[in-house]
Amino acid sequence: MARIARLRDDLINKIAAGEVVERPASVVKELVENALDAGARTVQVALEGGGLQRIVVSDDGHGMGREDAVLCLERHATSKLRELDDLENLASKGFRGEALPAIAAVSRFTLHTAEPDAEVGTRVTVEGGAGMHVEEAPPRVGTVMTVEDLFYNTPARLKFMRRGETELKHVEEAVIRIALAHPEVSFLVEHGGLPLFTSPACPEDPTERIAAALGTDVHPHLFPVEERRLGLSVTGHIASPEYTLPTARGIYTFVNHRYVRDRGLIGAIQRGYQEYLPSGRQPLVVLFIDVEPHAVDVNVHPQKMEVRFADSRGVYDAVLAAVVRTIRAAPWLGPTPPGEADPRRQAAHYAQAVERFLTRAQEATWGAPLPLPSAADAPTPLALVPAAPVPMSRAPAFGQALPQLNEAPPPGYFAALRPLGTLGGRFQVCEGPGGTLVVLDPHAAFERVRLMGFCRILEEGKTPPPSLFGTTVELPVPAARALVGGREALARLGIDAEPFGGTSFALKTVPPGLEGADPRALLEALAQALPPAGTPPDAVGLAEALRVMACHAAQTAPEKLSDAQLRALLEELDTADFHPTCRHGTVVVLEMPLLELERRAR
Ligand SMILES: Nc1ncnc2c1ncn2[C@@H]1O[C@H](COP(=O)(O)OP(=O)(O)OP(=O)(O)O)[C@@H](O)[C@H]1O
Ligand SMILES: [Mg+2]
Repeated sequence: MARIARLRDDLINKIAAGEVVERPASVVKELVENALDAGARTVQVALEGGGLQRIVVSDDGHGMGREDAVLCLERHATSKLRELDDLENLASKGFRGEALPAIAAVSRFTLHTAEPDAEVGTRVTVEGGAGMHVEEAPPRVGTVMTVEDLFYNTPARLKFMRRGETELKHVEEAVIRIALAHPEVSFLVEHGGLPLFTSPACPEDPTERIAAALGTDVHPHLFPVEERRLGLSVTGHIASPEYTLPTARGIYTFVNHRYVRDRGLIGAIQRGYQEYLPSGRQPLVVLFIDVEPHAVDVNVHPQKMEVRFADSRGVYDAVLAAVVRTIRAAPWLGPTPPGEADPRRQAAHYAQAVERFLTRAQEATWGAPLPLPSAADAPTPLALVPAAPVPMSRAPAFGQALPQLNEAPPPGYFAALRPLGTLGGRFQVCEGPGGTLVVLDPHAAFERVRLMGFCRILEEGKTPPPSLFGTTVELPVPAARALVGGREALARLGIDAEPFGGTSFALKTVPPGLEGADPRALLEALAQALPPAGTPPDAVGLAEALRVMACHAAQTAPEKLSDAQLRALLEELDTADFHPTCRHGTVVVLEMPLLELERRAR
């Protein structure tokens, strides 16, 4: 008896769906890619129930006639590939003819489409990949695909779906990956009627798309990249090293306009930034690597996320060179023409210089160490609050100062500093006790002082007379949601942000110090910083929110401090108690005892 039997088509499609349709975001990706392949100029995505309940993707592309509308749901039916050779010259996103039958196999699927100027359109419905029903429908421009009850017939897969919120994040990311590569197309994504991601077409200026997708605050830091070699080009935009992220999620790479996540490419980018970024921080990059079609194989991954280059070394080198050249040439660090000193640029330059100096200082051993008070004392970490002055004879060499990260400086330490001048338009150089060279970061000092002030408001529970703000701002949906949930916590911080219908908020009061802050940026940042529901609203639970407030308050500080302002700041630093849960940032970036200076001068 024969043991082998051919699988039924619906079963084959269900199995294929396991690879192509992992979650709602994969459906959105496939349908949006199809819309682009059909020449759409506007793509709309409407979701319900995190995408599991309903996904509707509408486009204004070339649509399909009745015959194609039926065929497109058949496995391996595609208009994008006829011969194997075509794979080498692929201009479309799709080519397998797999996506639609796979999606239709695990959902209740409807498509409504028409060809341009046709008098009648077609509607096709399929349930779980079976029982196809085809009927005439009104004519329309383009195609609309509706996917309902995703995974209703594959309970094992359904069980793996996350909270709606998480699935929506994946959807948003999937659309962003496509949208970044297509600034010429308008995107509108909504969930439950509320906008999730909206970005009108901006073919002239792709940085607008980057800002819409990855955050408006990156916009001023973006610089164009252009590196052209034989059969290879690297273009796009990268953010200057002033703008960093905690993870590599801000690195977007595209090969022939297809989003890919390739370790080698990411590695080349990270190498390029290596010298400029503080450790643990990652850059924001949107890079398009275009190679001749035959020099890359896109057919190595069902979701087409991986590619194989014929000359991976050449691609790596070009990407590295493109990044390094752009960072070096970008005006954020480049030579400033005389008379055009830009203090922000210089500040960044000096901050980098100090950071590199300190890192090296920690790594290097400078001659014989001076006697330490205790052998158990470890080398100091980079961020330190000032070390308490120790008797000169026992002063530790720099880089071996006492580890006193969380300890308060001795009373009156800051007020006793004698300001000598500014370095690089940013750092304040002072003489400290016993001739110690002390370099301070006044911006960080402001932040510290404000942070302590906000901590006090929270801990004492009584808000000082608030500053009236009275501005209305429009927020992205996730931020609006977070703020509604976090209103009580905000109130404890002295902030009254009242929902004003839809995603609008009226920022009514803020605690003193935040009057000059940008209301939208402040609320967006607070929305991200608020702790999950149920966290105790104390200085520990709200530490991140406090930090955000301090950061925004510090941004309103004057760029150049008068003598009186500096004095006042130093005095405030002495009264700002160094609460361990609230500690933040480095105030003193360098403290070098006179003895160490003398030793080096010898
Ligand atoms: N929005 C659309 N507008 C017009 N035609 C479409 C649309 N979506 C799909 N089609 C047609 O249906 C065919 C099948 O789509 P499907 O996504 O299943 O396969 P594909 O895009 O060819 O390849 P892949 O599986 O790699 O995505 C496409 O080749 C295209 O001709
Ligand atoms: Mg497709």
